[in-house]
Amino acid sequence: MSATAEATIEVIPFDAPLGADIRGVDLQRLDDASFARIKEAWLNHKVLRLRGQAVDDDALADFSRRFGPLDKAPITQHGSPFQPKRPEVTVISNIIVDGRPIGGLGAGEAEWHTDMSYNEVPPDASVLYGIEVPVGHGDTWFADMEAALAALPEAMQARIANLRCKHDATRNSAGFLRAGYKEEYDPEERPGALHPLIRTHPETGRKSLFLGRRRNAHIMGMTPAESDALLDELWAFAVRPEFVWTQKWQPQDVLIWDNRCVLHRRDPFDASLRRLMHRTQIQGSRPF
Ligand code: SIN
Repeated sequence: MSATAEATIEVIPFDAPLGADIRGVDLQRLDDASFARIKEAWLNHKVLRLRGQAVDDDALADFSRRFGPLDKAPITQHGSPFQPKRPEVTVISNIIVDGRPIGGLGAGEAEWHTDMSYNEVPPDASVLYGIEVPVGHGDTWFADMEAALAALPEAMQARIANLRCKHDATRNSAGFLRAGYKEEYDPEERPGALHPLIRTHPETGRKSLFLGRRRNAHIMGMTPAESDALLDELWAFAVRPEFVWTQKWQPQDVLIWDNRCVLHRRDPFDASLRRLMHRTQIQGSRPF
């Protein structure tokens, strides 16, 4: 790493189990040494925030692509991407233009989830950029699944060590049914992906709880009642305050988080306020 990147980039951990601010970086002028420092900080802190970044979709995609090839945006509830010409940049917004939402998730709560884990190969990371942000509303929360797993009682760690969970594809984190899916399915046949409940990070080698999202989740080989009881217990533990950091948005904040070891959720906010974010997803590998 160059002496310049060492000297100019500051990594300031939050007073929380995860997350750090990166200072001294302009994403429009990012060199390889500075990126290497950011990547190292990201693997250590799991969520990074870079404030005051004036980036358009090209710059957002260029920065994101440094972490790896980009995934296409998730399927919307209408079945088509919000930006057909930029399928790798999805829009998260409550703004309605000509009677149609310009983005996903609306103004309601986005429940705790890991992005797109209903895919066999979910994205490693997501980058979210606040374009129009109602300051003081719509906070985004992050929970450290490595810390949660490490704190789980040993008997529970042993109990879940070889279990696999079905991650449901039918609804998004705001609860909307995606285009093409039915309301009801058999729990083991439900559209989605099967993943281990404990996941090993392919870059750090560290283990995390990998829960995806609670709604319609099912642990294979269990009755629905057994699965629900175990998942409720794991979820109640995983999002305890000691594992959580909360992002209070300002315009031009860029956040990048590691979906392999972090859950996130968003508070509901007053629907009369305008909130517009653009997001990219970095391709991942099959969880193991
Ligand atoms: C998301 O779940 O990716 C959206 C988070 C947010 O709107 O703050």
